[in-house]
Formats: sequence, C-alpha cells, structure tokens
Amino acid sequence: MWKKLIFCCCVGFLTVRHAKVLKCIHVKSRVLFDFQCVAHLTYTNLKCNSSNRNIGEFDYCYIKAVNRTYKYISLYYKLYKRPLSNITLNIQMLRKSNGYKPFTPNLEVDICKFLQNQRNPIMAIFYKSLKQFSNLNHTCPYITDVYVDKMHPANFESDFGRYIPIPEGDYALCFHFLAKKVEICNVCIFCTIFN
Ligand SMILES: *[C@@H]1O[C@H](CO)[C@@H](O)[C@H](O)[C@H]1NC(C)=O
Ligand SMILES: *[C@@H]1O[C@H](CO)[C@@H](O)[C@H](O)[C@H]1NC(C)=O
Ligand SMILES: *[C@@H]1O[C@H](CO)[C@@H](O)[C@H](O)[C@H]1NC(C)=O
Ligand SMILES: *[C@@H]1O[C@H](CO)[C@@H](O)[C@H](O)[C@H]1NC(C)=O
Repeated sequence: MWKKLIFCCCVGFLTVRHAKVLKCIHVKSRVLFDFQCVAHLTYTNLKCNSSNRNIGEFDYCYIKAVNRTYKYISLYYKLYKRPLSNITLNIQMLRKSNGYKPFTPNLEVDICKFLQNQRNPIMAIFYKSLKQFSNLNHTCPYITDVYVDKMHPANFESDFGRYIPIPEGDYALCFHFLAKKVEICNVCIFCTIFN
C-alpha cells in the first residue's frame, strides 16, 4: 500500500494518498503512472456566466439530484452569433483551502484543432466524458445552440481518477470559452472528491 506518492505528470506535481495499483507506462518517452485510486466525485454547485451576451446566453444551467448519490448537470447555451469557428477553451482546476486556489496550471486548448485530431490527452478525458451527453460532438464550425443533457460523473471518475490522482477535497473546475481570444462564457463545476 502506498502511503504517499509524488510524481510528475503532464499537469504538474500532485500528491496522492491512496493508490492501489501502480504500474508504469511510457507515453512519448515521458513516464506516466497508471493506477487506480478509489476516487469518487460528487457535484456540489454549478455556475454558468455569459460574458458576451451578443454571442450567446444560457437558457438554463443546473444540477439535479436524483437521489443522494446520483446527480447530474444540464445546461443550454443559446448561440446568437453563428457560425463560431475560432474557439479557445481555458480550463482551470482550483482547490478550496481559504478560498479557491489554482491546483493545476491552466490548460489552453484550441477547440477546433482538438476536435479534428483529439491529440491532447487531458482534453481527451474531458471530451470522452462530455460527448455522450452533449451536442458538442462534432468538428467546427458551431452553428447551433449547445447543450449538455444529464451529464453524470461516472466516466470522469474512472478516467480522470485513473490518470490524474487527486487528493480528497473541494474543487472547482472552470471552463472559459473564448472566441478569437475574447471570453464569451464560462462554466464552473464545483465538486467534492473523496475516496
Ligand atoms: C458574468 O458576465 C458579466 C457580463 O455579462 C460580467 O459583468 C461579470 O463580471 C461576469 N461574472 C463572472 C463571475 O464571471
Ligand atoms: C440513484 O439513482 C440512480 C439512477 O437512477 C440509480 O442507478 C441508483 O441505484 C440510485 N441509488 C440509490 C442509493 O437509490
Ligand atoms: C452527437 O450527439 C447527437 C445527440 O446525442 C447524436 O444524435 C449524434 O449522432 C452525435 N454525432 C456524432 C458524430 O457522434
Ligand atoms: C483566431 O483568432 C485569433 C485572434 O483574433 C487569431 O490570432 C487567430 O489567428 C485565429 N485563428 C484561426 C484559426 O482563425
């Protein structure tokens, strides 16, 4: 049993408390550790904000609790300015300790490029969890309203918890969408990670 494990991965240095299985894999000459943590994730809050109402607005954005353990996210973004074909996504992961502080370096992804080649491994994890619940599952340009329907964290738990061990605690995952480098909207998912 590993009490404490410190390792380097594409998102930076992270500390892990409970890891059960550990094996090494080599990805493009970089050593990554592949192991399973007994991590669970539950949504605690969701905030959506349209920074530019000329481009689009949120119709709804909420978490619904089906029961104590099963919660899902639904949101709907009305896109006024169509087509949208130059989109950057900036992902921030924040951890709560005297307020929310950055936990990983910001990840900036050119969405249209990513959708064509799906090469960014971190983004691929988010995309895999998202695409089955959303109409964001095609390449650019975006010409319709965007929705996420009843997204629950099961896949995200198994994929993200597997590659990126995360200590227990309260987190915020914020997704900032930019068109031609200017923010159009952001979505923050607040969650608790526990073992
Ligand atoms: C939300 O967007 C409005 C502009 O529509 C902006 O004034 C405000 O600062 C934003 N709030 C947050 C928390 O991003
Ligand atoms: C909660 O709801 C989900 C989805 O309907 C279901 O699969 C699960 O068994 C439920 N859990 C409990 C404890 O009732
Ligand atoms: C994208 O999602 C929609 C709605 O779930 C589905 O009808 C469509 O077939 C999907 N398209 C692709 C390319 O996966
Ligand atoms: C996207 O917009 C930015 C800022 O206007 C510009 O620098 C960049 O070249 C554009 N990219 C594409 C693929 O059009």
